[in-house]
Amino acid sequence: MRQRAVPVPPCMDTMPASATRSLPPPLFWWPGPGARPSGHDRARSCPSSSRLRRFFPPRLRHSGGSGPVHLHADSLDLVMDVGGVPVRHRDPDEDHVLIQCVHGPASGGASFLVEAYRFVDDCRAADPELWEFLTGADVDLYGAWAPQLRGLPAAPRVARHVEYTRTGRRIVRRADGVVPLHRDPAAPQVLAMLDRLAKTVRTLEDGLPRFTPAEGGILLLDNYRCRHGRDAHTGERAVRILTLRTSDAR
Ligand SMILES: [Fe+2]
Repeated sequence: MRQRAVPVPPCMDTMPASATRSLPPPLFWWPGPGARPSGHDRARSCPSSSRLRRFFPPRLRHSGGSGPVHLHADSLDLVMDVGGVPVRHRDPDEDHVLIQCVHGPASGGASFLVEAYRFVDDCRAADPELWEFLTGADVDLYGAWAPQLRGLPAAPRVARHVEYTRTGRRIVRRADGVVPLHRDPAAPQVLAMLDRLAKTVRTLEDGLPRFTPAEGGILLLDNYRCRHGRDAHTGERAVRILTLRTSDAR
């Protein structure tokens, strides 16, 4: 299927056309105050208000110099006890994410994106064993993070890297918290495939075009379809992150 050209943010004007063409289509970019996206771009990329179901608490993330953040899709299973009432702060089915650049770093920190659907489809021919793992093996999505989150999430979140919602949307997951299921007899193979996936993704990352978000600019991503990451940076960097769920999730 032929893909429509992706809107090019002003900061990407100097990028070669071949680089901007490789950006995933479910991308919406608002360059910042004073700019207005076209109605066409907004309608194509943004979930309509009638499809919005839930916003999760926005978070401001500061980093004062950091290594790279590798390709991933945002999601987490996080429920907090607030005055005795369980309150969901993050959801494994956050199917869209908005990322606003609040303060750019002194150097580095360029962003990159990839269309995960295409990655999986290409993987079927390029590495059938990895494709079988992504589409057929159950894993614990956030198990590696549990000890760092004061015991959360308490229950394993069992899922596959590639799944479909009841409405037929494809979910392609990628996170650093994935571990084999508890007492899974296939754990050694699962660990080997997770390592292979990580190496494949790192190799892919190296060839992706980079772009530098302008302060105030907002990136809206289809979190089921895209993976995002950024390079290492020096100096303070801050982004505001808002995840949400639409009626297409689950
Ligand atoms: Fe992220």
